[in-house]
Amino acid sequence: MLNLILFGPPGAGKGTQSQNIITKYGLAHLSTGDIFRANIKGETQLGVLAKSYIDKGQLVPDDVTIKMLQSEVEKNPGAKGFIFDGFPRTAAQAQALDVLLEARNQKINVLVSLEVEEEELKKRLLERGKTSGRADDVDPSVIQKRIEVYKAETTPVKEYYSKQGKTVEVNGIGDVLEIFKTITSKIDSRL
Ligand code: AP5
Ligand code: MG
Repeated sequence: MLNLILFGPPGAGKGTQSQNIITKYGLAHLSTGDIFRANIKGETQLGVLAKSYIDKGQLVPDDVTIKMLQSEVEKNPGAKGFIFDGFPRTAAQAQALDVLLEARNQKINVLVSLEVEEEELKKRLLERGKTSGRADDVDPSVIQKRIEVYKAETTPVKEYYSKQGKTVEVNGIGDVLEIFKTITSKIDSRL
């Protein structure tokens, strides 16, 4: 069983790197952002609620997000492990995840933190916004808000897992495959 968190600010490359990681390790991919976007597209009740936060660059409330994540984990009983992408994003979510995994006799093995500076993040997101159709990638003030929310509410998650000795930092700037190789070497050294 391998459970890992791919961590980092908006635009750090969590989704991009997840694709390679799930293939190599056979993990189930849980991206809370992707799940919210699928709900927005399907115009579900959850989607309508999530959209009202996402479009402003704010976090969806913890209770809603944790409940959704829990049900997604339960939908994958045979998974070899999970890659959590974009979750946990608050200290409360991290605590809830630990409780959830403990009840299943599992744990987080490692948190990989992709380190990318702010100017590069803004550049990537604005560029993607030209074609992605993501409302939160278009307006520079919403992108700024996402980055501020990350700093204020999400960075404590990295600290939370540092205290458990599970955080590893990886430079997220440069060639995508080179970054992937660095990530896998860090993961493998923890297996
Ligand atoms: P979410 O979908 O998680 O978005 P995010 O974390 O803000 O950022 P991205 O997913 O856009 O970035 P990423 O790190 O995955 O980078 P990517 O690989 O796409 O969340 C969206 C919203 O949903 C949140 O704002 C919040 O409202 C809500 N939400 C989600 N989870 C939540 C939670 N747990 N609690 C509460 N609310 C939650 O790459 C970005 C771009 O850069 C791409 O164009 C890519 O091609 C490019 N790129 C990637 N790597 C490189 C590289 N090495 N060099 C150059 N370009 C690169
Ligand atoms: Mg993503």
